Amino acid sequence: QTPVRVALLGAGTVGAAVARRLADRAEVFARRVGAPLELTGIAVRDLGRPRDLTGVLPGLLTDDPGALVDEVDIVVEVMGGIQPARGLIERALRAGADVVTANKQLLAQHGVELEALAGREGHGLEYEAAVVAAVPIMRTVRDALAGDEIRSIRGIVNGSTNYILDMVARQGVPFQDAVTQAGDLGYLEADPTEDLEGLDAAAKIVLLARAAWGGEVGMSDVQREGISGLTDADFENARGTGQVIKLIASAWRSGAPGAPRIEVAVRPTLVAADHPFAQTREGTNMVIIEADSAGSLRLSGAGAGGDETASAVLGDLINLARARVAARD
Ligand code: NDP
Ligand code: HSE
Repeated sequence: QTPVRVALLGAGTVGAAVARRLADRAEVFARRVGAPLELTGIAVRDLGRPRDLTGVLPGLLTDDPGALVDEVDIVVEVMGGIQPARGLIERALRAGADVVTANKQLLAQHGVELEALAGREGHGLEYEAAVVAAVPIMRTVRDALAGDEIRSIRGIVNGSTNYILDMVARQGVPFQDAVTQAGDLGYLEADPTEDLEGLDAAAKIVLLARAAWGGEVGMSDVQREGISGLTDADFENARGTGQVIKLIASAWRSGAPGAPRIEVAVRPTLVAADHPFAQTREGTNMVIIEADSAGSLRLSGAGAGGDETASAVLGDLINLARARVAARD
């Protein structure tokens, strides 16, 4: 079978994990897709930076991402940031490729236009990894519940802040030390203020709200407060009242019947110690979806980390590759 050609943009925490799995699971992926996945190049910023690319063919690294996107079937964007990621994705879609991305900020700010472009070009744009990493929540909200009416989505959607809050509250680790530990685990964004100020959680709840109710919700609609303003007194007060502080992202419908409004918020919230959110430890995330017919659904699992996020990236990649191979026949 002719290989499905794949370009990888980024080899940091997530990209390096994707590259390693493409190498060490090559045979099993070829069976699942019906053709081999051929990695044609890996774009990075700094060619000299040490990185673990065990098993990956040497010579694939380049610092010219534009050179990779025109001649492939699928582009995987795990660089992060708005530009050049946005331009590269647009170029890839126009050149005939499908795209997988984990870039929630780009999608929250420009996803509506990118999805429209993908639709016009007749190519796929998939981003399961952008929202709660390993947990298949986008598919659940967008596809599995497409025949239901979602009332609300509420949960812990940021792994690094959950890790930090858990370390501070349960283990008495100083706030700054917990931030450093979250970084060492690969949970933090390249700009950690995105996590600490709730921007990462805001982008995820925007994407979930759009998947549930349509494309009108944007980042400016989010009522947002992060965790950097929390004080020792806040943690002591929570402990004293048998509660814990969690960064909770919520999306719900309000307004009169016939004129519904979508509300979105991210804020530190006191949660009773026996609530499932309070039991959600370290980098784990949990989301509770309330739907008219399905009732209450609870999804939880790894919300950050290289291999965990690569799982979702590779799931999207394999599904798009299968569709490509099926369309050849
Ligand atoms: P990293 O910062 O670890 O990696 C980014 C990679 O992209 C690096 O290899 C970097 O190169 C490369 N890169 C950045 N800018 C450029 C550029 N202009 N040209 C070429 N290469 C570039 O990020 P992560 O792997 O943690 O995250 C990647 C994406 O995945 C982000 O959008 C993030 O939000 C998302 N994500 C991350 C999760 C996680 O747990 N880490 C979970 C879910 C989503 P170099 O190595 O040379 O610096
Ligand atoms: N920085 C993000 C988090 C990575 O902490 O959840 C996963 O999206």
